[in-house]
Order: sequence, then C-alpha cells, then structure tokens
Amino acid sequence: MIKGSSVRRAHHRVDALFVDRWPPRAMSGEAIATDELLRLFEAARWAPSSYNAQPWRMLYALREHAEWPTFLDLLSESNKAWARRAGALVLFVSKKINDRTGQPSMTHSFDAGAAWAFFGLQGHLNGYAVHGMQGFDYVRAQRELQIPDEFRVEAMVAVGKPGSTETLPPPLQERESPNDRRPISPRPCAKAGGRLRVDDLMHLPVTQRQNGYIIAMERGAGRSVRCRSLRPFGWVVHLSKPQDRQPRRRP
Ligand SMILES: Cc1cc2nc3c(=O)[nH]c(=O)nc-3n(C[C@H](O)[C@H](O)[C@H](O)COP(=O)(O)O)c2cc1C
Repeated sequence: MIKGSSVRRAHHRVDALFVDRWPPRAMSGEAIATDELLRLFEAARWAPSSYNAQPWRMLYALREHAEWPTFLDLLSESNKAWARRAGALVLFVSKKINDRTGQPSMTHSFDAGAAWAFFGLQGHLNGYAVHGMQGFDYVRAQRELQIPDEFRVEAMVAVGKPGSTETLPPPLQERESPNDRRPISPRPCAKAGGRLRVDDLMHLPVTQRQNGYIIAMERGAGRSVRCRSLRPFGWVVHLSKPQDRQPRRRP
C-alpha cells in the first residue's frame, strides 16, 4: 500500500499520518481477527462527543460470520465489486437522542463522524485499508439489521488487508490512488458580513474572482469586499475548485 505522501502533500505542517492515510479499495480477501478489529473500535471509543454522550454505535460482520452476506448484500453493485474482499464490514449508526440530556441531539452525526475518523486513522496505523461507503441501501440496512428508529444510519466501512490492484474492476484500478483536497483559502472571511481586504482577495485563485464563486463576496467601498452569506449560517471557508489549487502570487 503506497503512502498518500508519495502523491499528495500538505500545504501546512501536519503529522504525516493525515496525508499518508488514504482508503484503498484493493483488499486481499483475508480474514481479520476480532482482536485486531477491536483495536480500531478502541480508537473510535476515544473520540470526543458533545456532553460525552458517545452516540455512535457500530454493527459489524467479519467475513466468516453468518451475517456477512446480509451486510455485503446491502452494498451497491459498484461497492460490492471490491468490498467483497474486505475482512470486515462495519455499519456506523448514531443515536438521535442525547443519553445525557434526554433531548434530541444536535451533534449525533458529527460525533459519529469523529468516531469513524479515529477508527480509520487507527486502521491506517495498523496497516489496514479502511474505506468509508455511503453506497448502500440505508432503508434496508435499518430494516434488515433491526436498527431502532432512534438511531440514524450513518455510513458503512470496509476494513481489509491491502490487496493487489489487479483484483479491482478496470475503472477502479485507474482510480486506486490517494485523492487531493481543496486548499484552505488564504484569508477566509470569518463569517457573513465580515470584511476581506482587497489585498487578500488578490491571493485567491483568478477563476474564483472571475466566475460564480465570487458570489460569496461583493464589492464594498474603498479597499475591502463584504462577505455575503450563502446559507443561513453560511460561513465562507473555501471557495476554490480543485483545478484552482495554486494561489496566485501578487506581482
Ligand atoms: C462517508 C463516506 C462515504 C463514502 N462512500 C463511498 C462509496 O460508497 N464508495 C466508494 O468507493 N468510496 C466512498 N468513499 C470514499 C471517498 O470517495 C474518499 O474517501 C474520498 O475520495 C477521499 O479520498 P482519500 O480518502 O483518498 O483522501 C466514502 C468516504 C466517506 C468518508
């Protein structure tokens, strides 16, 4: 399994872990021992959550379990094509009511996302391919795995020992490489109504100033532009497209 840092790079200094982790689809078809999987769940256990309510729950099937065909059959055909070689399929769900307050939780999905991130990072550190999936039947998952309505089905995760790329269907072989990310905007407007100096705007990719993305900002008087909300809580964080990655240098 190649390291992410062999094809992508961080723009600011971070631990190599974040850039090196990526989710191969090519898996070996080998079994994963329960103890090994428990190490990933243990990492997820230490994720932070609002009120420390820990609203995540995980349902899983190892490939030798009787439930494996049920989990696998929930996947879309395109995911089945590679995930059938995983060692474990894990379904992340989150509880919509906060156990600590008894009130509807505003952050159950957010908290479960943190748990999945910890799970995935530990999996990477342990040498596993850990790949998130939303390509499965959410309604059938809820029904066939008898998940009560108070839980939201979040996402499925395939965990496996890395395998040969040749096991993948040809279109997936071409995509079997770490992906890049949008850049962080050099000087994001803190929130709608905030001001951005024209000098900062000059650092933004040229297309961002010329095409539809500029909708997030409008010209103000003098040497500043006003940030305009895109959504009710629309904080403008980054607006550029992947092909605009290189910020323009000031002359
Ligand atoms: C919640 C979630 C759902 C995803 N769903 C799928 C999926 O159904 N099928 C798939 O092949 N990849 C899926 N992915 C993988 C993403 O496409 C992949 O993580 C993304 O392109 C980033 O690539 P990177 O992790 O290599 O950096 C999913 C990832 C996440 C986090």
